Amino acid sequence: MALCYLNGEFLPLERACVPVMDRGFLFGDGAYEVVPAYGRRLFRLQAHLERLANSLHALRIPNPLEPDAWRTLLETLVQRNEGEDQSVYLQVTRGVFPKRDHAFGGQAVRPTLFAMSHPIPAPDPGIAAQGIAAVTLEDIRWAWCNVKAITLLPNALLRQQAIDAGAAEALLVREGRVLEGAASNLFLVRQGVLVTPPKSHLLLPGITRDLVLELAHRAGIPTEERDIPAGELRQADELWITSSTREIVPVTRLDGAAVGDGRPGPLYRRLHGLYQEYKAAFRRGEVEGEG
Ligand code: PDD
Repeated sequence: MALCYLNGEFLPLERACVPVMDRGFLFGDGAYEVVPAYGRRLFRLQAHLERLANSLHALRIPNPLEPDAWRTLLETLVQRNEGEDQSVYLQVTRGVFPKRDHAFGGQAVRPTLFAMSHPIPAPDPGIAAQGIAAVTLEDIRWAWCNVKAITLLPNALLRQQAIDAGAAEALLVREGRVLEGAASNLFLVRQGVLVTPPKSHLLLPGITRDLVLELAHRAGIPTEERDIPAGELRQADELWITSSTREIVPVTRLDGAAVGDGRPGPLYRRLHGLYQEYKAAFRRGEVEGEG
């Protein structure tokens, strides 16, 4: 049975409850992170905690814990849950207020802190062998996509729209440029160069994105961070999406047409291999894994 953490207490997930007056429930007023643990070690935790601090700062929610206290809490959660490899979800909401009011005023309210962890399922071999299908959709999200807010209704609707179309991810287009997936970052390979859109308020600064760029640099693979016109997707030799939970996933069909030759490409296999080697070294304690 999964054990979670809520406001100072470890308890079974099924028993964890928050009051209905929590602004997370009423307004989607909070921030979250998803942090993988490999061999029960939290991967790139510092980067996740920095991004959380940035999200909370943007939302004007006080960060309830110092980095060391976050580390202790999350390490305890991972130790007390099942699985050598786990996916930790944490969220902080603005807390429980006496009245439903859009404005949150100057009242000092304790933020609600919740964290849970689940074993990461074994990777589906079909994905590395065949890749996934994706569709392009108009980005209907707000303009602070760099903030990892729990308000995920557009992302959820877009992901479902992709699934309804027989695909596994939606690639989001705004003003003619493709930015990222509904819950992932985007990479394109063209003539041996690995391209990804630059960080901006229009996409989440993915931790996996940074690691992929780092591994590519170390391997001498040329990279570019630049805008990608949606039309360029059709000229890609390879497309990938990345996230902490899915790592690197090749997109082999886009809007019903093959990407490149329709199979995961050579650069995907190279980066996937480097990523797995890096993870294995991290698991053995040979790399710090913080970048
Ligand atoms: N989502 N872009 C969006 C919109 C995301 O939601 C995510 C991750 C990413 C990839 O970020 P990272 O590499 O740091 O995981 C990019 C998480 C996994 C989620 O919502 O479950």
